[in-house]
Amino acid sequence: FLYFGSSPLQASILNIAHGGASGYMPGNTLAAFKLARQLHGDYIEMDVHMTKDGQLVAIHDATLDRTTNGTGLIKEHTLAEIQRLRMDMVCENCAVPSLASILERFGTGARYYIELKSPWRYPGMERKLLEVLWTHGLTGPQAQPGGVILESFDARSLQTIHRLEPDIPLIQLVGSTPATERQLAAYQTYCAGLGIPYQSLSQAYVQQVRKHGLQLHAFTVNEKADMRRLVEWGVTGIFTDFPDRLYEVLQEI
Ligand code: G3P
Ligand code: CA
Repeated sequence: FLYFGSSPLQASILNIAHGGASGYMPGNTLAAFKLARQLHGDYIEMDVHMTKDGQLVAIHDATLDRTTNGTGLIKEHTLAEIQRLRMDMVCENCAVPSLASILERFGTGARYYIELKSPWRYPGMERKLLEVLWTHGLTGPQAQPGGVILESFDARSLQTIHRLEPDIPLIQLVGSTPATERQLAAYQTYCAGLGIPYQSLSQAYVQQVRKHGLQLHAFTVNEKADMRRLVEWGVTGIFTDFPDRLYEVLQEI
């Protein structure tokens, strides 16, 4: 492991299975996560929201409409109501899973990359997330270093987590506008690295971010040619819907 501040991250380039192997199965489902592990994803990435009764669930959008037969905001439904819904694509293990059920299913042998999606909608979400991680042995003295990485576009939410649990590696997600030197220096104070859309990267920008001691995880990269270029430029992780493709590219190195 390489250590950046108190945050351990593996030295090799991370294969981050975006929503699981979401190129093959509906994203954020147990089926997609299981396949991601079979296809050599290092981390299963997921998006979490909070239900009306304070439970964390893995689903991309803040509403149910696009990916299930339900409607309305996650936060206006209980976990039991959400678990009764069907997803568009019918398959085994394709329902909206609670975070707890994912961690129970894959245990401490898997590695998790969890996005706090619009945490401003869910007061107390950070503490709830840390509680679930603790309960499942993913934080604390016995936990495997780098077993969990947390990510968000919301800097305030990440800073809250950093204050509560400074040992968890955090990834600040940013948009396509390149970060300034001043912003990069600020990110260094609470996060291990940045998640950046790959289309906005250049070799110079990758080097600039890395010079600040920050990891750089590019999202979401599905073509092998793009993966090869990013690896050459020095990114330290890649989000992909096709972890098998990235695995093959990394085998070439
Ligand atoms: O999780 C990193 C990146 O994937 C954020 O965008 O919309 O794919 O969750 P999204
Ligand atoms: Ca995500």
